[in-house]
Amino acid sequence: MEYVPLRISTVGANSELTFDLYIFFKDQYLCYVPKGKSIDEEKLEKLIHQSITDFYIPKDQIDNVNVYLDQAIQMALCKEGISSEESIDLMEGVASTAIEQMQSEPNEKSYSMTQKAAKGLRELMTQNPSALKILFGKKSKEADQIINHCINVCTLATKLAEHIKLPSDEIDELATAALIHDIGLPHLKRETLELFSKDREEMKNEERFEYFKHTKISSQLLSSKPFISKQVEELIEFHEENLQGTGPFKKTKLSPLQECLNLVNTYDKRVFTKKETPAEAFKAFQIDYIGMFNLELIKRFELVLKEEGLL
Ligand SMILES: [Fe+2]
Ligand SMILES: [Fe+2]
Repeated sequence: MEYVPLRISTVGANSELTFDLYIFFKDQYLCYVPKGKSIDEEKLEKLIHQSITDFYIPKDQIDNVNVYLDQAIQMALCKEGISSEESIDLMEGVASTAIEQMQSEPNEKSYSMTQKAAKGLRELMTQNPSALKILFGKKSKEADQIINHCINVCTLATKLAEHIKLPSDEIDELATAALIHDIGLPHLKRETLELFSKDREEMKNEERFEYFKHTKISSQLLSSKPFISKQVEELIEFHEENLQGTGPFKKTKLSPLQECLNLVNTYDKRVFTKKETPAEAFKAFQIDYIGMFNLELIKRFELVLKEEGLL
């Protein structure tokens, strides 16, 4: 039997499950809660304490899971009976699940869930002005660093694109692309993947060459899929490019959407690789990355960071 991941933060206590819930324990999948039953609060807390972040669902029950995730998005946005923090956790869980599903199987259903998660995050930020700061400030475990980075890039790039008044439907495309821009990373060799934690300016030439292969892998995973637009595919393929032409494809011209994604991607990577505060990273960004991005956009980005309470 094949399984797909489901973030533990999307599973509420005491609600009847429409699918079998498995955990991965000692190299095997164990049915933890069968369909039709619910999980009590105590059991759920225990798992979270044990640092288990994912449940698993049999792949043939994926449709039921997606219905469940749709409901989770609605619940996070309506906030019926849940706090603001819980709604942020719920949306983060849906986005993380969508990214993980895209990493393991980039099919139409996973992609549709990613689009809904991206739209949901955008809506949540509109409803709750503190949401971005709360999401950005969350500490992730090392295993979750890529997912955490993708959610940060999604939220900040969305805000930057809204700030410079790009068309709303294009911002939705940007938000979707941002969530999955690094899905190629887990396909790199282990020693190359470790470079994710290294600032690009500190990589040796050959390290950078190997690391940049993830952009091609990401786009190959998504190419020739009719449900993914050319715009999203190109945003992902060229997300490590900059105006100086030092990216993997040596492009020196970027569309406004690409500039938003690439600038925010570079900024967020700086924050976590150098373990800097948002303010420290921005100070360095203004100096070290000048020429890589349009100066006007960097100034606009500073305003966004200030508006969101990060500077
Ligand atoms: Fe990347
Ligand atoms: Fe990235």
